[in-house]
Amino acid sequence: RITLGDAVPTHVIILAAGRGTRMRTARPKVLHRLAGLPLIEHVVRAADSLRPERIGLVVGHQAEQVEAAFAGRALVFARQDEQRGTGHALLQAEPLFGGRAGTLVVLSGDVPLTRPATLERLVRTHEEANAAITVLTATVPRPYGYGRIVRADGRLARIVEERDASASQRQVKEINSGIYALDLPSLFDAVREIPPAGPADEIHLPDLVRIYRQRGLPVETAAADPDEVRGINSQTELAEVKRIVRQTRNEELMAAGVTIEDPATTWVDMDVTVGPDTVIHPGVSLQGRTRVGARCELHAGVRIVDSTLGDDVTVRDHCVIQGARLARGAQVGPFAHLRPGAAIGETAKVGNFVEIKQSSLGRGSKASHLSYLGDATLGDGVNVGAGTITCNYDGRRKHATTVGDRVFIGSGTQLVAPVTLGDDAYVGAGSCVTDDVPAGALGVARGRQVVKEGWADRQADGSGDGSSDS
Ligand code: UD1
Ligand code: CA
Repeated sequence: RITLGDAVPTHVIILAAGRGTRMRTARPKVLHRLAGLPLIEHVVRAADSLRPERIGLVVGHQAEQVEAAFAGRALVFARQDEQRGTGHALLQAEPLFGGRAGTLVVLSGDVPLTRPATLERLVRTHEEANAAITVLTATVPRPYGYGRIVRADGRLARIVEERDASASQRQVKEINSGIYALDLPSLFDAVREIPPAGPADEIHLPDLVRIYRQRGLPVETAAADPDEVRGINSQTELAEVKRIVRQTRNEELMAAGVTIEDPATTWVDMDVTVGPDTVIHPGVSLQGRTRVGARCELHAGVRIVDSTLGDDVTVRDHCVIQGARLARGAQVGPFAHLRPGAAIGETAKVGNFVEIKQSSLGRGSKASHLSYLGDATLGDGVNVGAGTITCNYDGRRKHATTVGDRVFIGSGTQLVAPVTLGDDAYVGAGSCVTDDVPAGALGVARGRQVVKEGWADRQADGSGDGSSDS
């Protein structure tokens, strides 16, 4: 049921034009990655949770790169060509929101951990108080670098930036998160009244508080947990936030029945899922869009990127798995490398020092030692002998290898693609297979062994024939 009270529309603007000088990197600050996503993606997701009418992004420094990170998404952009402060940045968004009614939530592209419930509370506090501005604040142990909340008679009076703060104001531990709810219709005119500050004539959005107070308009605050409002200005702050996200993700997984032996060294990206009763050993990274089933065991030092693991999969120590699919009960490693397009069938086994790229291994098949399989399709119950190599590249193009069911490939075999081994075929060890081996046939392709009796003795007494071709 829609009532008039519900009809206040919400809009969001995210400030992300700053250079991020303190990061000391060429990469724009808001594109630094946190748990597999750009910082700004975390902020956009928080914004989405408010179900706003529109989400705007103010971009400037390396704007094309930031915009490209959101190609095809329902966001609107404003450009701030000269970075003259957060208030100036907001002014650039006037064409996106000017003339609209409702609440505008301002988020910072470098404050990625704010929870949806906190933003909802900010908006509710703001609308219930009919405030002109509501500032999200937090009381933190180390306020250095943040704008301080200065109160008079308990009420927000103004925000003082670190460099402008007096010695006593620097003691204040309540800080400005850089996140605000603002009443739209009169907002941009008020921002225009903020006096430029400092040598670069910057316009500081927090100064809006003083302007609204001078006009006697209601000014509110809402409180957040300290960790939620951490801003990232330096590499050290980025690392601290990564630690917090790592801990949160691991706690979520453990609450869902995943055993994590060493949460301090386990890194699970935002969009990864892990099934219950899976055990994760120390030093494991699960990245991108990886999905891990139930009852899996991931041993130490494994990195899995954008891959899907069914239930009951075992990955032994120090495997790298990227863009691969492992069906139920598969076993991989130690020291295996599964590259994009590797598909390991149910209960199939991939052993140590095996590399697989764009190839499928059928149900119950085994490649246990020291092999390279590229652009190959292998059926069920195949045995790939140690040291088998698909020669899939002729210097210009890749060629396919096709192997039927129950094929036995002897150790040290080279399969020169394109080549096909029929069902139940055998290949003798040490073969260089250049022609197809039909179903049920044995293919042997190696030089015949020559045995010269007594050869070593003849060498020793000088009567050897000197030939070196044996
Ligand atoms: C800002 C606040 C400070 C608050 C802190 C919280 C101001 C003046 N100060 O400080 O009170 O405690 O955030 O993290 O607002 N940006 C632009 N254009 C600009 C300048 C900044 O888009 O011209 C963007 C940045 O990309 C960034 C955000 O605004 O995403 C905040 O800017 P930043 O320079 O990091 O402000 P702080 O010094 O952290
Ligand atoms: Ca900041």
